[in-house]
Amino acid sequence: MVCAMTTQAQVPIPRTAVVPAAGMGTRFLPATKTVPKELLPVVDTPGIELVAAEAAEAGGQRLIIVTSEGKDGVVAHFVQDLILEGKLEARGKHVMLEKVRRAPGLLKVESVVQSEPLGLGHAVGCVEDKLDDDEDAIAVLLPDDLVLPTGVLETMSKVRAKRGGSVLCAIEVKPEEVSAYGVFDVEVVPDAANPNVLKVLGMVEKPKAEDAPSLYAAAGRYVLDRKIFDALRRVKKGVGGEIQLTDAIALLIEEGHPVHVVVHRGSRHDLGNPGGYLKAAVDFALERDDYGPELRRWLVERLGLSER
Ligand code: G1P
Repeated sequence: MVCAMTTQAQVPIPRTAVVPAAGMGTRFLPATKTVPKELLPVVDTPGIELVAAEAAEAGGQRLIIVTSEGKDGVVAHFVQDLILEGKLEARGKHVMLEKVRRAPGLLKVESVVQSEPLGLGHAVGCVEDKLDDDEDAIAVLLPDDLVLPTGVLETMSKVRAKRGGSVLCAIEVKPEEVSAYGVFDVEVVPDAANPNVLKVLGMVEKPKAEDAPSLYAAAGRYVLDRKIFDALRRVKKGVGGEIQLTDAIALLIEEGHPVHVVVHRGSRHDLGNPGGYLKAAVDFALERDDYGPELRRWLVERLGLSER
């Protein structure tokens, strides 16, 4: 008897991935006076390239970067630089050449400008006009968040294919951290094959620890139904006087739109502040053959530890 092999169907993420990158990066001043935060290197690769690579690997075809005035460099990073490539080629620097060619080769990159700093929800709303009529969902990746290992977006897309609506990524945070996040009110899905899939009953942006409905926090990865744009038009300014993506998702839930989370159990870095950014850089460098061994030796010495 010949048995047919069953292969797990891959569900790609929506065609368009949105990366909001319009913020001023105030926590990184003075560096961000002239260098956009999203271009600061994690070892040698800008954070936004890591996020773009994640979207491409998950099946995204187009990246829409939401920028603001003065941040042209973010999009320029994804434009082929033939002069630089020519120089590297002439000098036989093939490894560098591959590195320089990677970002422009990942996926098609476009941009929209958010003219006023009205928040994450407003930034996402700015891409609506760029979508084709047949696009019923978008992926959103916040470039401050590195969610590792990659792959959660594919799981989220699979959950959307099965359960409809919108799907977000959650991480479990400590009570003292919860007020920095969008936080989910969740319940178990009885028939979920994956215990990390939870149904979302509500969502609140940056609650006080005592008001937080759970310790499940939004971790910067979203697969959002196109209905989000209508909801974004209807929400009022929320926390910080900004149009919050969280509030639009909460509105959709109230109106019966299915929203689920996939709880990510791996690691996550927050590139949004210098402390988190440094941890990410050290973590990535330790994994590298070129910098890892010496960095490890130095850290051990610097911290007065003994090598295991
Ligand atoms: C944003 C979102 C928040 C989310 C967080 C993840 O907040 O508004 O819901 O939990 O990203 O990093 P921000 O960190 O931009 O203040």
